[in-house]
Amino acid sequence: MTPYEKPDTWSLRAQKEGYPARSVYKLQEMDEKFRLIPAGLRGRTTPAQSSSPPPLAPLKKEFRVLDLGAAPGSWSLYVLRRLAGAGFLAAADLSPLSRRYDRGLFEGGNFFFLCGDITAPEIREKLAEKGPYRLVLCDAAPPTTGSRQVDTLRSLELAETALGYAESTLERGGSLVVKVFQGGDTAGLLVKIRGLFDSGRAFKPAACRSGSFETYYVGLGRKAAQ
Ligand SMILES: C[S@@+](CC[C@H](N)C(=O)[O-])C[C@H]1O[C@@H](n2cnc3c(N)ncnc32)[C@H](O)[C@@H]1O
Repeated sequence: MTPYEKPDTWSLRAQKEGYPARSVYKLQEMDEKFRLIPAGLRGRTTPAQSSSPPPLAPLKKEFRVLDLGAAPGSWSLYVLRRLAGAGFLAAADLSPLSRRYDRGLFEGGNFFFLCGDITAPEIREKLAEKGPYRLVLCDAAPPTTGSRQVDTLRSLELAETALGYAESTLERGGSLVVKVFQGGDTAGLLVKIRGLFDSGRAFKPAACRSGSFETYYVGLGRKAAQ
């Protein structure tokens, strides 16, 4: 059994808490640190009961999230649980999602899953139709080859793809979280993120495996389209 197959504390905790993968704790940490998903989301604001009708509160815009490279589904489950019936999540992956822990959440009306390649134009088009989004997440990772140079290059292509989704489908003020394998021209990607967002930074969650060369880039506050 390799260190990657051996269940560690994070994997055991994920199983206990009903998530198919330990990666959920990376998103949870980033959500708590960067407030990616606001607390107390409601679909629509209903006026309070009273004799004289109060002015109608403006309807809040629906909080829509895109999850790229979503299988087996821990991040999607985390987002759906945080949305608690409000908002909407679209997700895509080459592989299907695990149905082991979803308790029907993946069949809800506020969820859409597409099995396919996120770099393909037809997948891009279908996911764009479900936007615009407030948050774009990308935990997509290429199958590792053993060559760090090849893996880093492929990971960078996926991260650039995610940035393309952010550029075309994110609302003003929205956020991006994208996984990158360190090495190659990741510095160039961070520069692009800083150009599109009010702030852009690298963050390595505690749940990343020790020795892994993955990290995440977080863009907050998408600027208005030029
Ligand atoms: C680390 S896993 C994602 C884990 C997920 N965030 C979770 O919490 O369950 C990386 C995923 O990226 C997907 N992936 C890699 N390249 C892709 C591509 N071109 N299009 C769609 N998905 C891709 C893989 O199939 C894999 O399921």
